[in-house]
Amino acid sequence: MSLEREISIRRTFGIISHPDAGKTTLTEKLLLFGGAIQEAGAVKSNKVKKSATSDFMEIEKQRGISVATSVMGFYYKDKKINILDTPGHQDFAEDTYRTLTACDSVIVVIDVAKGVEPQTEKLVKVCRMRATPIIVFINKLDREGKDGFDLIDEVEQKLGLTLCPLSWPIGMGQRFKGVYNMWEKNLNLYSAENKQKITEGTHLDNIQSSVLEEFVGDEAANELRNDVELLEAVYPEFDRSEYLKGELCPVFFGSALNNFGVRELLDCFQEIAPEPQAKEADERLVKPNEENFSGFVFKIHANIDPNHRNRIAFLKVVSGKFERNKNYLHTRSGKSFKVSAPTAFMASKKSTIDVAYPGDIIGIPDNGTFRIGDTFTEKENLHYRGIPSFSPEHFRFINNADPLKAKQLNKGVDQLMDEGVAQLFTLKQNNRKIIGTVGALQYEVIQYRLEHEYNAKCSYENFPAFKACWIESNDDTQLKEFSTLKQRYLAEDKFGRLVFLADSQFSLQMAQDKFDKIIFHMKSEF
Ligand code: G4P
Repeated sequence: MSLEREISIRRTFGIISHPDAGKTTLTEKLLLFGGAIQEAGAVKSNKVKKSATSDFMEIEKQRGISVATSVMGFYYKDKKINILDTPGHQDFAEDTYRTLTACDSVIVVIDVAKGVEPQTEKLVKVCRMRATPIIVFINKLDREGKDGFDLIDEVEQKLGLTLCPLSWPIGMGQRFKGVYNMWEKNLNLYSAENKQKITEGTHLDNIQSSVLEEFVGDEAANELRNDVELLEAVYPEFDRSEYLKGELCPVFFGSALNNFGVRELLDCFQEIAPEPQAKEADERLVKPNEENFSGFVFKIHANIDPNHRNRIAFLKVVSGKFERNKNYLHTRSGKSFKVSAPTAFMASKKSTIDVAYPGDIIGIPDNGTFRIGDTFTEKENLHYRGIPSFSPEHFRFINNADPLKAKQLNKGVDQLMDEGVAQLFTLKQNNRKIIGTVGALQYEVIQYRLEHEYNAKCSYENFPAFKACWIESNDDTQLKEFSTLKQRYLAEDKFGRLVFLADSQFSLQMAQDKFDKIIFHMKSEF
């Protein structure tokens, strides 16, 4: 197959949601349709149960399990679909943000009863920043939930999206009768007693037809006709080019648990979702159909077995053809690397692969050399952009608790930061190291892993910061004045960029008001 053809059949995407909306269930059902798994229950949820919030070993185990489910590839119709797993637990939100940089599109799952939840808001915000095409799946229609129109309004307002319903529910909860699919113009009926589909894809070109009454009864038929009339009057028609620009988001309704509405979602997805996209590097825009291979690391996963400290770096192929045992340039170090055992997950099996194409994700064994954001190329000196760090929510000094193991501690901290477990800041004033995290859980994880993987001990001490802001300014005088005034709160991130660790919202506001020639960025890429 030609490179162009390989690119045109690939669809690489992520499923995002607030925990419990049904991401794992939907993933599993999609894999079932794709024949990638044979039975339900095969995909382990990598979400951390609420009761286990302090049980970090459990989290590490689950993160371990999720290596296997980090990427799941399968063929459906004539497309190669790659689903990228995104951690549901909010303490691992940074992992999810980074994974989103490797997704060409996303499906957002929303619980019909709960509507838009905080984690959905945060994740969609990141997608919008990158203009990622979004499809919305409203889940759990077998339960009582919000009215369809109210929910669509809520999604549009809270997520700032323009929606275009391509399917519409007939009733809900006990009265849920099925879904009318406006995309395929057919009716899928659901039996509440058996909790399953009873007819599939009954074609219904014209919903004025009296056939509708036969299937759903007079009342529901009328309700559906009124709803569809309103939908057609109020919501824009589906336009693929707008969807691809991230400006219009199709909506589907269903119940992942009952396998209802999932095939329709997948059918539409494989038809409309974007193929692998061009990507900005610092140097230039790189197109997938360029002959030379290039790719970037968006995730590093540690092996939880302390006897094998190997890690897996997940690399997304951006352009050209990747080949096993060929020398590639690791542009950060300038060194050449040959990958002898690249892996991929197809149909839930991990296997060594010989070649990979744009859109594919490959696992590269790593003994601590690679870092999130690293670029690999055939020979060109490229650096892919777009893996931003967001301001952490928690900040603590990290101290060495065993003076004889300083070297081990430094190495451990460095490698854990390369994995993206947390962010390291070094105070300008005295070189003390501060670890910033999204959730408090990471501190336990770091302490545990330093001890078990690096034989080092650490203790923490609170650092009273509210947010980390990356500083940008062309005005040297202001920058100097600011640096003198806020000396105690200035640090460098691990790339040497200047960061202001504001101690409160108030002090950040004051600084912004006073130093109008300084820009305070809430994320590291600007
Ligand atoms: P997540 O990955 O987004 O966190 O959600 P997950 O798929 O684990 O689903 C969360 C809960 O919602 C699960 O129940 C799951 O069975 C349920 N669920 C998913 N889709 C539907 C649906 O269409 N209808 C209904 N009624 N429930 C649905 P749980 O009790 O938390 O877990 P489990 O014991 O069933 O695994």
